Amino acid sequence: MTDQLTPIDRAKYASAHCAADFVQDGMRVGLGTGSTAAWMVRRLGARVKQEGLRIIAVPTSTRTAQLARDVGINVVSLDEARWLDLTIDGADEFDAELTLIKGGGGALLQEKIVATASDQMIVITDAAKEVKTLGSFPLPIEVVPFGWRATKALVEELLASVDVMGRQSSLRMNGTQPFVTDEGNYILDLALGRIGNPRQLSLVLNQVPGVVENGLFVDIADIVIIGHADGTCELRDLSTGVAEMSERRVDLGEARNIFSDL
Ligand code: 5RP
Repeated sequence: MTDQLTPIDRAKYASAHCAADFVQDGMRVGLGTGSTAAWMVRRLGARVKQEGLRIIAVPTSTRTAQLARDVGINVVSLDEARWLDLTIDGADEFDAELTLIKGGGGALLQEKIVATASDQMIVITDAAKEVKTLGSFPLPIEVVPFGWRATKALVEELLASVDVMGRQSSLRMNGTQPFVTDEGNYILDLALGRIGNPRQLSLVLNQVPGVVENGLFVDIADIVIIGHADGTCELRDLSTGVAEMSERRVDLGEARNIFSDL
């Protein structure tokens, strides 16, 4: 089956499997959203069945909740879990400080709430998402539908006074209709090209009435696990400064292409 996968998909699979090894019996775990996170959820489901791993999990989207239940993971709400030991999630871009752009899958609000309510966040990714300066990937922001055009105009005006290259924004669509998040909001994708000061941008964006949250994750992620197409993983731990390559290779033989339904 792995021959159906692109090298990037194999890398995502490897990072997801390496990260799933961090989950221990009894943990409360946040489950991210996206294709990389889906591999991780499937791997955790397999561990629940094969090893009797006992975890409670808080998903970051209805898609992830459905998948987690389908693979036999005990799903609860964040209010039931209250606090989490670990969240594992993908990203759209990351830099050397583990500042992230997230929200490509439209789940940034729940993802940020869940990751922030966790002792640790592990980012799972392939190497192509590492950048020197964030901003090539359009920055998603979640806005309330009421008055979204006014919010869009205010955001574009604000972008003129911060250190970014572009200031065009577009409403994310789902066919002919606006894309609607799990919280009933819209997404604006900001084509910024370069984000000089992610911390400042994140703060000022969230001051605009109508903006619910933005996809910049600053000081939230602790560890990144970068998968490679040969099944190896590279781990970087921001707090300890440790950077290491895994000695084992993830067995890519079990991978099935599930990307079409995510
Ligand atoms: C969803 C996200 C995802 O983590 C991000 O888009 C990465 O997705 P993928 O693993 O499919 O590349 O932020 O809102």
